[in-house]
Amino acid sequence: MDLLIPDKVHDESRQGEALVLNPIGKNNGRKLYIESYGCAMNFSDSEIVASILAEKGFETTQDFNNADVVFINTCSIRENAEQRVRNRLKEFAGAKFKNPGMVVGVLGCMAERLKSKFLEEEKLVDVVVGPDAYRDLPNLIDQVDDGQRAVNVLLSREETYADISPVRLNSNGINAFVSIMRGCDNMCSFCVVPFTRGRERSRDAYSIVAECTDLFNRGYREVTLLGQNVDSYKWSNDTEQVNFANLLEMVALVNPELRVRFSTSHPKDITDEVLHTIARYDNICNYIHLPIQSGNSRVLELMNRTYDREWYMNRIDAIRNIIPGCAISTDIITGFCTETEEEHQETLSMMDYVHYDFAYMFMYSERPGTLAAKRYADDIPDEVKRRRLKEVVAKQQAHSYIRLQQHIGKTEKVLIEGFSKKSDNDYCGRSDKNAMVVFPVDERFKPGQYVNVLVERSTTATLLGRII
Ligand code: SAH
Ligand code: SF4
Ligand code: F3S
Repeated sequence: MDLLIPDKVHDESRQGEALVLNPIGKNNGRKLYIESYGCAMNFSDSEIVASILAEKGFETTQDFNNADVVFINTCSIRENAEQRVRNRLKEFAGAKFKNPGMVVGVLGCMAERLKSKFLEEEKLVDVVVGPDAYRDLPNLIDQVDDGQRAVNVLLSREETYADISPVRLNSNGINAFVSIMRGCDNMCSFCVVPFTRGRERSRDAYSIVAECTDLFNRGYREVTLLGQNVDSYKWSNDTEQVNFANLLEMVALVNPELRVRFSTSHPKDITDEVLHTIARYDNICNYIHLPIQSGNSRVLELMNRTYDREWYMNRIDAIRNIIPGCAISTDIITGFCTETEEEHQETLSMMDYVHYDFAYMFMYSERPGTLAAKRYADDIPDEVKRRRLKEVVAKQQAHSYIRLQQHIGKTEKVLIEGFSKKSDNDYCGRSDKNAMVVFPVDERFKPGQYVNVLVERSTTATLLGRII
């Protein structure tokens, strides 16, 4: 069981979403269907894939039944993420039966983890492509057209797709994800990402600024800079070195009307310099996603997170001092190998210390090949993991509610993203602190504009108010 409170970066409602774009000129008469699972990185990669294939004349479709090429961009982070993909592939089988010429491809982290094993295990799959091999897709599709099955799961130390300007899929024209780095070198013992995404590499800072500038010129008003550990961003050319604080500043300077968000921050690497940069620019949002995973130092050590409870608290104190009122969210894993009841209590007490605005909370799921799978027994029974998760979730719900209540009576600067899901009489948008705000439409303002909203009340997850 995963329990998620949706936001833009880990949006549960987007899992499995079919992505479409308008044709960009050429047309080869073939239709591409692509759906994505997992983190924002994967959604962002799907935009790169669509760009590469649009260049070759593919059109996108939202219906896999009349697609010539069906891609599923997959996630391996927990066992249930992989199960979801397997189930989905079964649903594609019927369409492929009717249209044997259909090319079915598995992309992303599961492709990288299972490699050619996928072709043995799932007979309907024609092509398996890892996250660093998307430039090879046109070629791989040609191979399948010639009657072969094709695999490219080479990981790269350099690939950042920096020169590919991603087409924006299912975009509202206001928020966009911008990948600033790929891979991860951290080797947290529970985590499959270093194996599926390869070594960490940072993208050319100027290509990031150019992409953000172009987005702004096309009307976008919010970018989310993406990386598994944005604080270790590091790029240099002959004359300068750019760290994450420098990059944040460069993007903030694109235009004061462009909001800047970022994810994910790592407690071991987030520096005071980054915090001061956030504090200095109004358009860098006061919101930090800082995964704790466990509140106990022994468990953190087994997890190979390379910080302990005290260090994490020190980083929280620094955020509170340097950016007063900053919203903070986190990720928590319950029932990691050997976690005792007292250690679980320390996660709960850490939650009391921070009062997170929201959290993504998971039961530990052993992943083959990871350090934890090799070294430690997955020895906490499922019902204990689940009960601990319930306790964590209950506490978080209480804290989220308190945090929302704190906004009541205050004025929030909201970027209008569109009409609310429930009614065309209401707009919705996010505050600087990433809270969802719903308020009656005022004809003078359009999506993409900022408004000041007086918050009057809240539901369990949304603030309600009116423009002032
Ligand atoms: N790079 C980010 C996390 C990416 S994965 C970071 O370092 O924080 C997103 C979240 O999934 C992780 O923070 C962790 O809480 C959860 N996760 C990762 N592997 C997991 C596993 N094997 N079982 C349960 N949850 C896991
Ligand atoms: Fe996984 Fe740790 Fe890297 Fe995050 S920092 S992606 S949890 S290895
Ligand atoms: Fe999943 Fe891969 Fe992202 S494992 S969380 S899609 S990096």
